[in-house]
Amino acid sequence: MKVLVTDPIADAGLDRLRDADHEVETAYDVEGEELLEAVADANGLIVRSGTEVTEEVFAAAEELVIVGRAGIGVDNIDIDAATDHGVIVANAPEGNVRAASEHSVAMAFATARSIPQAHQRLKNGEWAKGDYLGTEVNGKTLGVVGLGRVGQEVAKKLSSLGMDLVAYDPYISTERAEQIGAELVDLDGCLERADLLTVHVPLTDETANLLSDDELAKLEDGYLINCARGGVVDEAALARAVDEGVMAGAAVDVFGEEPVSPDNPLLDVDDVIVTPHLGASTEAAQENVAVSTADQVVAAFHGEP
Ligand code: NAD
Ligand code: MLT
Repeated sequence: MKVLVTDPIADAGLDRLRDADHEVETAYDVEGEELLEAVADANGLIVRSGTEVTEEVFAAAEELVIVGRAGIGVDNIDIDAATDHGVIVANAPEGNVRAASEHSVAMAFATARSIPQAHQRLKNGEWAKGDYLGTEVNGKTLGVVGLGRVGQEVAKKLSSLGMDLVAYDPYISTERAEQIGAELVDLDGCLERADLLTVHVPLTDETANLLSDDELAKLEDGYLINCARGGVVDEAALARAVDEGVMAGAAVDVFGEEPVSPDNPLLDVDDVIVTPHLGASTEAAQENVAVSTADQVVAAFHGEP
């Protein structure tokens, strides 16, 4: 079988496919006609977040059995079109959870202590010790929007550093939330009580622009961490809220449009710190998701679950 890989994945995953006697073709950064041509005779397609797998792609890929997503979010894959064309979509739901949760915690400290801003000024030769008075997380309240795999890990980590937990997630039980010490509340309650709000929902019709001007105003003086998906937070509203001092700061790893265009309003606000979708970018996580995805592609070729 032929497997087309259109976003870079760890070699361990590619080796897994070759060891199972499948042909692997890598074609990174292809889009439009080039992608449609490349996928025409592929039996498997492996992507990360960089490739948009649209209805057009499914229509062009007549031999396709499975799309493997080497990561969690499947918002770049048209699931309805996959279903219409009888193609399996499989993600790797666990392999990068630790990496994403560690990055979220790192971003929390980075924004609450202005580490990137202070770093840059010192590198520029400026000793700006007097300009930064940070916020301690101990004794503060963490609001978690989306208490799934990553949200729970972030909650556990920051609770061990002395934070109280509130969470908004209409799909998990009170008992499960209590097991990790979080009080389930509605979205307004989460925003109003959180000193630091961390977002861990998938991007769906329901979560698109979940947090805009009105919601961010309720996070008065607080910090927001978004290592989930760009479209969940209204970027212009977030830039405004931080710039106008409604919020203390924000740390953002994911964007509505990636790569981010230079005129994205978040890039202009000093107290919004940014990373280029690095949440899952650790060696261990990339190996985990590549191997898990390759195994699922091979299983699908054998008609296995
Ligand atoms: P998950 O499916 O385990 O958890 C998502 C949680 O969100 C679930 O508990 C679900 O009930 C909840 N949810 C769904 N809709 C909701 C809504 N409308 N309001 C509130 N809660 C809602 O997913 P996960 O593995 O924890 O991943 C979370 C997010 O992080 C996803 O968007 C994923 O794509 C993203 N992610 C990003 C990176 C990165 O590199 N930055 C890495 C891994 C995951
Ligand atoms: C994910 O949803 O797993 C993340 O977007 C990680 C990634 O593939 O970069």
